[in-house]
This record gives sequence, structure tokens and C-alpha cells, in this order.
Amino acid sequence: MAGAANYQKYKSDGSRLGDLTEWVDARFPLTSTWRAHLSEYYAPKNFNFWYYFGSLAFLVLVLQLVTGIFLTMHYKPDASLNSAGVPVAFAAVEYIMRDVPWGWLIRYLHSTGASAFFIAVYLHMFRALLYGSYRKPRELIWIFGVFIYLCLMAEAFAGYLLPWGQMSYWGAQVIINLFSAIPLIGPELTVWIRGDYVVGDATLNRMFSFHVVAIPLVLIGIVAVHVAALHEVGSNNPDGIEIKKKKDERGIPLDGIPFHPYYTVKDIFGVMVFLIFFSIIVFFAPELGGYFLEFNNFIPADPLVTPQHIAPVWYFTPFYSILRANTVNFFWVDAKLWGVIFMGLGVMAFFFLPWLDRSPVKSIRYRGPLYKGALAIFVVAFLILGYLGMLPPTPGRTIVAQVCTVLYFLFFLLMPIYSRLDRCTPEPERVRWK
Ligand code: HEM
Repeated sequence: MAGAANYQKYKSDGSRLGDLTEWVDARFPLTSTWRAHLSEYYAPKNFNFWYYFGSLAFLVLVLQLVTGIFLTMHYKPDASLNSAGVPVAFAAVEYIMRDVPWGWLIRYLHSTGASAFFIAVYLHMFRALLYGSYRKPRELIWIFGVFIYLCLMAEAFAGYLLPWGQMSYWGAQVIINLFSAIPLIGPELTVWIRGDYVVGDATLNRMFSFHVVAIPLVLIGIVAVHVAALHEVGSNNPDGIEIKKKKDERGIPLDGIPFHPYYTVKDIFGVMVFLIFFSIIVFFAPELGGYFLEFNNFIPADPLVTPQHIAPVWYFTPFYSILRANTVNFFWVDAKLWGVIFMGLGVMAFFFLPWLDRSPVKSIRYRGPLYKGALAIFVVAFLILGYLGMLPPTPGRTIVAQVCTVLYFLFFLLMPIYSRLDRCTPEPERVRWK
């Protein structure tokens, strides 16, 4: 890609705005950056529905940062009890909801934003599976993406602790305790993470600092390199062919259109539609039946009362199911540790996709029945795992979760075989308008 430095500086047309732009341009790469990344950044002309979710993830990131700043102005990370016997942190959230002007809106935008973030990111990742966007030369875009996903999980986990409700407390208890399954260092590591022998004020304070400072900084950094890597190689598209291979005499891809105004306008349309659905949830169903805000979290944290059923928020439940599906002690390793190992591998597996996929084509449009079937089974297994993770385990559910866990991992493990054996059709020379 032509770097911003290669663009000519702006020459004023004599207007005041023109003079100002020329003045800035002589001191800062304004026009050249605008051209390199927007008005002369050529994206494939056949983007479809699935290409909305990158910009929507970006929108939600900004929304979370802005609402988070306002929440932080009124929130207090303090687990001690106030004069009414309620944890100060829990009371601070209630204060935001009831007494801070528009506080309820800021809080619901933030809590709904958390789920919206995962919806956007899951659909964004699914798009990559549809069109092979993780394949050469986009491996780094994908790897940065998986790091974003990891950060997002850590961010959501730390954030969920802050209201200091029953689910915050007991969820943290369950998840942090998982580290104790690690041989030798497990118990000490768990105390180190908690900052105490039990989940308490020290845990709440460190999760607050992770949630509002450390992880957002890392997240913003990785999103920046994610987009920088994307602009280096250019976008993939629903046909999975490289538009840079066919250029006109000026070096412009024949199947490319300037990102601005074409995709800025398209993305604004996506934002409008998204905001309609988002607002409906924020204003009419912010708990979304307990899926976005769990009912148990409206009860203050109580270390003496364990809730009957502890389940994470929906976006973690597929991995929670994988954790619980491991019920057998095997090879001197107990079931809990296997659960932790497989849960970790379940996320890490995504890193290896670019090298596991051996198909001669990228897009699902030209792949054969094997990949289509494998992807369909993977998605169904993932959804079933997600559903089961919200329910208390029963022997029957555990067997279903075990079957789905096996199917989940087979998608990755067998990919080098089925992607090679698949009956693919040849890719077209130029992108199609669909
Ligand atoms: C904060 C979260 C994220 C933001 C703001 C973000 C932003 C973007 C944007 C703006 C694009 C270009 C537009 C588009 O293709 O939709 C993009 C492309 C891409 N992203 Fe992300 N992304 C995020 C998370 C992720 C994650 C978690 C993954 C994968 C694990 C991922 C993988 C990719 C890939 C492979 C592409 C290239 C797609 C193509 O060219 O077909 N991204 N991202």
C-alpha cells in the first residue's frame, strides 16, 4: 500500500479552509493520511452484510470507552459495607441508577454495549470463517484479532466484578479458583491473583484498575495494529480473491472503490440499523430476560450465601460448557485441570486457523461440501455449548456438552484433512456483485 508519505501535500484553492488545510499539511500529514486511509484507500466493491461488523465493533468500542469514563466518575471500587449494610461498590451502582442525572442511561448503554460488543465480534469472526479472511496474507490481522478477543474476555470478566452483586462475587470465585488446578503453583497463584485468601476488596480494586486502565489501553493498541495490518494488505471480500492482482494503468484495483465515500456511507447505514436494535434493548429490555444482566446480580454480594446456580454471561457460556464437560480424571490429571486446559485450548485454537486451512480457495462460495458441513457443525456445536452453559448441569446435558466439545475441537483438528480433500470450484477472475 502507498504510505501516507507518498501523497502530495494539499495546495490551497484560495479559500480560508483551503489556506488552513495547506498550513496544517505543511506541518502534519493530514491530507495524505485522509487519502491513504479513506478517500484513496481502495476496498473491494463487493462487500456485503458481513462487512458491517468491523465498523460496528469500532463504534461499540468508542461507546464503551465514553460511557465507561462517565461511570467511573461516580463508581467506587470498595467492598466494605456502608451504614445500611450494603457493599459500597454495589450501592455506588444503585446510586448511578437512581440519583445521578441520566446515570441509568449511561449504565444501561455500557451494560448493553458489553453484549453488543461480543455480538459484533462473534459475527465479525464468523465472517472471517465464511470468506477465509484469516488466510495468507491476512494472518497477522487475524492473530491481532484473536488477541483482541482475549482482551475483550478479560475486560468483560473484570467489568462484571465491579457491581459487586452475587454473580460478580461468585462468578469471580469460580473462575479465579480454576487457577488452583494448575499443578505446584496453582494455590499460590490463585492467592496472588485475588490479592487475598478470598475474593475481596483487594480483588475488586485490582479488577477495577484492569478494567478501566490496563486492558482498555492494550485493547486500543491492538485495534490500532489490527487496522494498520488490514490497510497494509487490503481487505479480503466475499469472493476471497485478491483485488490487487488486477489493476488499471494508474495502479488502482479494477474491482476496488474508494473507502470514502462509498463505504463510509454504507457503514453509516449499518450504524443506523444497529442503533435501532440497540436502543430498543437499552430502553425497553436492558436486562434482556437475564441474558445481558443476570437477575442474581441485583442482589448485593454475600460471601455467606452461594447462589443455587452460578453461570457466566452468555458470551462466555460456550467455553464454560467445555470446562464442565471434562468430568473424568485421566493420566494423573484431575477433571478440573482438563477442563481448564480444554477451555484454554478452545480459545487458543483460533490462532492456528491460518495454518490449519489447506483449501486452494478462501471463500465458502467456492469451497465444497466438506468445509460447508464442518463449519455448519461447528456453529451448531458452539451454539449448543453456549445454551448448555447457561443451564445447571444434569447427566444428560453433560453428555450433550461432551459430544459438542468433541465436535468443536474436530473442526480445528481435522481441518488440514477436510480442507484439502474438499471438492472446490475455481475462483472467478474478478469479484462478483452479490
Ligand atoms: C474491538 C474489536 C475489533 C474491531 C474494532 C475490529 C475492526 C475491524 C475493521 C474496522 C475491519 C475492516 C472492516 C471489516 O472487514 O469489517 C476489520 C477486519 C478484520 N478483522 Fe477485525 N476488529 C475487531 C476484532 C476482531 C477479532 C476478534 C477478529 C478475529 C479473531 C478480527 C478479525 C478480522 C479480520 C480477519 C479482518 C479482515 C477481514 C476481511 O478483509 O475480510 N477482528 N476489523
